[in-house]
Amino acid sequence: MTDPAALAAPRTRDFMPLTGIDHVELYVGNAAQAAFFLTRAFGFREIAYAGLETGVRDRASHVLAQGRIRLVLTGALDSASTIAAHQHRHGDGVKAIALGVPDADAAWQEATDRGAHGLAEPHTIADDHGEVRVATIAAYGDTVHTFVQRDGYAGPFLPGYAPREGAAPEEPAADDMLLTIDHIVGNVDLGQMDEWVGFYERVFGMTEILRFAGEAISTEYSALMSKVVSDGSGRVKFPINEPAEGRRRSQVDEYLEFYEGAGAQHLALATRDIVGTVAELRRRGVAFLAIPDSYYDDVPARVGEIDESLQDLRRQGILVDRDDEGYMLQIFTKPLGDRPTLFLEIIERHGARGFGEGNFKALFEAIEREQDKRGNL
Ligand code: FE2
Repeated sequence: MTDPAALAAPRTRDFMPLTGIDHVELYVGNAAQAAFFLTRAFGFREIAYAGLETGVRDRASHVLAQGRIRLVLTGALDSASTIAAHQHRHGDGVKAIALGVPDADAAWQEATDRGAHGLAEPHTIADDHGEVRVATIAAYGDTVHTFVQRDGYAGPFLPGYAPREGAAPEEPAADDMLLTIDHIVGNVDLGQMDEWVGFYERVFGMTEILRFAGEAISTEYSALMSKVVSDGSGRVKFPINEPAEGRRRSQVDEYLEFYEGAGAQHLALATRDIVGTVAELRRRGVAFLAIPDSYYDDVPARVGEIDESLQDLRRQGILVDRDDEGYMLQIFTKPLGDRPTLFLEIIERHGARGFGEGNFKALFEAIEREQDKRGNL
């Protein structure tokens, strides 16, 4: 007799439980001004700071929060620093995608046993608010994953950071436009996608939940291939893109050229009211990719009933897609910095678990118009 409970039990233990994306750290050319931009334009609040005033001699780090999103903007204070070298090569970009874990030592052990390249062994950082256990492994390009075990910490961010006005929100504030990081996309070199999908499967126990390639997402000029890995809880989702042969240079090729290697392409930030949020972001000066008016002609036939008015979506340039489980709305900003590399996505899900595959073609055509203006198509 087979015990039904045994059948229902998970086949394998989750050797790498993740509580979510703890924070994302960007290395930038001017952290003070990047923080000013992201707070003014996107509604983040600065909750913590480390720099000369707090006894840190080599960097200035501004910690921004909104909803459960935490971004750290770090700039170098001297030319010899590895932060300066990273920014010199890549421009402003994502350095660390930090993952919350219940046990940083166990996460490090499991990851390195499974072939991850260790960069910083587990160690404790502490201040008056308690202690945090951290460890770091390498990811694609010069990007890293830091494991953060913060159950013993009550400070605004991490030990060594001084609080700013408003301190860390436990729950999203009522007026937060942006709530969580829905997914973070990595661009890797041609032929490397399967290797990195394999890395997340092997090292993190993630599973491939979606893949896209070929006709459905290619245009006259460019194509890409994408596979999405997710942890068991669905809280951490990493699409991995690589360029595919196109008639001309694809957007992934352009990223890889200007980032000078693999790196994080975009952060998708979730909202509950994308129409209101995008209107407010536009009012604050955020520039989004322009969508051709003709895109909306076939939306009713393609997507069916949705709660939002098509007029509002058209006015704001918001894209809409549907899968078996519901629909989703999304929009993409123009690159945040000087190089055509990192950008943000704003996303609102109504059941759909996809990433806007049905929009890729319309979207790529919009991106290519921008590439063309830059002489990169
Ligand atoms: Fe996305």
